[in-house]
Amino acid sequence: MSSERLGVAVVGAGYWGPNLIRNFRGSVDWDLVAVCDLDTDRARGVVGERSGVEITASLDEVLARDDVDAVAIATPARTHRAIATAALQAGKHVLVEKPLADSVAAGREMVDLARSQGLVLMADHTYCYTPVVQRIAELVAEGALGEILFVDSVRINLGLVQPDVDVFWDLAPHDLSVLDRILPDGLRPLGVAAQGADPVGAGKACVGYLSLPLPGGALAHVHVNWLSPTKIRQMVIGGSERTLVWDDLNPQQRLSVFDRGVDLVQQSVDSADRRTASIAYRLGDTWAPALPEREALSEMVAELARSIRERRAPQTDGGAGLRVLSVLEAAATSLRARGALVDVMSTDQPELEIIR
Ligand SMILES: NC(=O)c1ccc[n+]([C@@H]2O[C@H](COP(=O)([O-])OP(=O)(O)OC[C@H]3O[C@@H](n4cnc5c(N)ncnc54)[C@H](O)[C@@H]3O)[C@@H](O)[C@H]2O)c1
Repeated sequence: MSSERLGVAVVGAGYWGPNLIRNFRGSVDWDLVAVCDLDTDRARGVVGERSGVEITASLDEVLARDDVDAVAIATPARTHRAIATAALQAGKHVLVEKPLADSVAAGREMVDLARSQGLVLMADHTYCYTPVVQRIAELVAEGALGEILFVDSVRINLGLVQPDVDVFWDLAPHDLSVLDRILPDGLRPLGVAAQGADPVGAGKACVGYLSLPLPGGALAHVHVNWLSPTKIRQMVIGGSERTLVWDDLNPQQRLSVFDRGVDLVQQSVDSADRRTASIAYRLGDTWAPALPEREALSEMVAELARSIRERRAPQTDGGAGLRVLSVLEAAATSLRARGALVDVMSTDQPELEIIR
């Protein structure tokens, strides 16, 4: 296992690309060797004049370089498949911004190609690399919450109406990727029901609600919204033993653990077959776990390097990206069917794992 630096090229230096560029540059694992953008002036503005980093509009030039081990793609979702395919065919490991692609079919092609080439394909599900989500995942995995009963996720503020995607494809990948990271069985809902509204006539849903029934009877709900004057980024994860509240806009207490819950004391069935439940409420302490302050993207680029060196799938691999895509695609079908509950296509492909 080598500890030599790996070479990376970033494709796309628009709004998000500069964050990747900054984190690759600040990493002991990586050498940023090239930045590729159709708009080379923009790329030069991000990289700076006096640097040895190649600036180019040509992906072919980047892929021809021997010192590029990995390509990080921060271009619009509709371009991910073509760029990732070219990079994988050139033998490069690939990091792709969320969402992995603009359809399940495109994402699946990318996952299959990476597997057949024996290369890493990673989705940048940024929130999964925050200390708070990693702590939530640990608490869930160690059983601190008991059974998960419900999840309620709200991500609303005055957001830019995106030219090519609706609010579900823009914002919900964050919530869905976090669910994939923290739920004991990952993001494998029994279905999805989506409702969206376009009250300002933008031509696409600007307000959206997703309901996701989960195995075991729990329900997850996601509210995404570009039209809210108040900014809320909150997730409540209710368990039979404890409930977590993650308030991402409260750095002093990002995560609260409520040692409270409800117990079903007894359930009776009367002569008319009506069920009556007797519920007891448990009241306990509320506490806030200490969390390190660390930028998620620095951990994300470190995980990309580790997965390449250890020749293993990264924490947010192409499969995680596909599970998110399959919910987004089912949500689009549900929207067209006026909010009907729609099956979510399984994207698990165990047979391919065995072949490799
Ligand atoms: N992880 C996160 O939290 C997060 C946040 C915002 C955006 N994103 C994702 O990042 C990606 C990019 O979003 P953005 O808001 O930065 O978009 P953007 O439009 O601001 O920037 C895209 C850049 O890519 C360049 N580009 C487009 N096609 C290209 C091609 N074929 N070759 C080279 N360059 C090309 C454009 O010139 C532009 O500079 C999207 O997938 C988006 O969902 C992720």
